[in-house]
Amino acid sequence: MSTQDLAGTTALVTGASRGFGRGIAAALAQADADVVGVARDPARLEDVREQLGSRFTAVAADAADPVVAGQLIDAYHPRTLVLNAGASPLSRPIHRHTWQTFSRNWDVDVQQVFHWIREALLRPLDPGSVVIAFSSGAALNGSPLSGGYAGAKATIRFITAYAAAESEREALGIGFTSVLPQLTPATDLGSSAVAAYAARAGTDVSAFLEERGPALTPEQVGKAVTELAVSTNRETAYLLTPAGLSAVK
Ligand SMILES: NC(=O)c1ccc[n+]([C@@H]2O[C@H](COP(=O)([O-])OP(=O)(O)OC[C@H]3O[C@@H](n4cnc5c(N)ncnc54)[C@H](OP(=O)(O)O)[C@@H]3O)[C@@H](O)[C@H]2O)c1
Repeated sequence: MSTQDLAGTTALVTGASRGFGRGIAAALAQADADVVGVARDPARLEDVREQLGSRFTAVAADAADPVVAGQLIDAYHPRTLVLNAGASPLSRPIHRHTWQTFSRNWDVDVQQVFHWIREALLRPLDPGSVVIAFSSGAALNGSPLSGGYAGAKATIRFITAYAAAESEREALGIGFTSVLPQLTPATDLGSSAVAAYAARAGTDVSAFLEERGPALTPEQVGKAVTELAVSTNRETAYLLTPAGLSAVK
């Protein structure tokens, strides 16, 4: 398959109003998919609609709400489902978290992936559909200033792999894969994490970034997601860096 095969199909992207999600929505619209973008702030979504035009449908909603997941899967029956929305963790050491701040990414990111993947399997989506869930490179190495973030993102990788196995067992033909992007200052979430880790290292942000090398961009993320959406030989998890996707075993 090539990205041309996405033309006229429906893609649903959560967290489409900014950051990676906006880059993913743009790449899918560029491939002539009809893109449904979900985020809470309607003004930011309207901005994306102005950029992408009539191929983009904005839905202002909480992606972690199980009713939203059920309603939107039923209404749009997406061929490509990208579960990208995520909360920005409070950047501080573990003992400065409360349980509520520690567990924010469980309440938003994990809950979202759980509800939408459940709906995708129950409906089920059509054979040939693909579900791409956003984990993080932090799932492999930890993220000591981000409370429960790394554990939540590791759980997203597990949930996605469990769903891939269920799809296989039931011969549903739905592809499930997770993406583990490297930390980047190119988004709101990434820039506050980078600022916190630079401060912790006792260095300024530009020196911190220089040491890390090239940073991942939302455009690269969009390209990687469209590639995964049409891949015929998909692994269950991929690390994503500026060099591209590499399978995580
Ligand atoms: N940036 C990085 O360095 C990095 C690295 C690894 C993994 N990731 C992961 O990649 C994904 C995208 O991150 P990003 O950096 O692009 O973040 P971002 O710039 O902060 O954007 C987050 C997006 O998610 C939406 N969102 C947040 N909570 C939501 C909710 N409850 N319901 C619906 N939409 C919601 C936001 O819109 P509203 O606020 O309007 O709802 C926004 O569109 C996240 O899952 C993140 O954990 C990012």
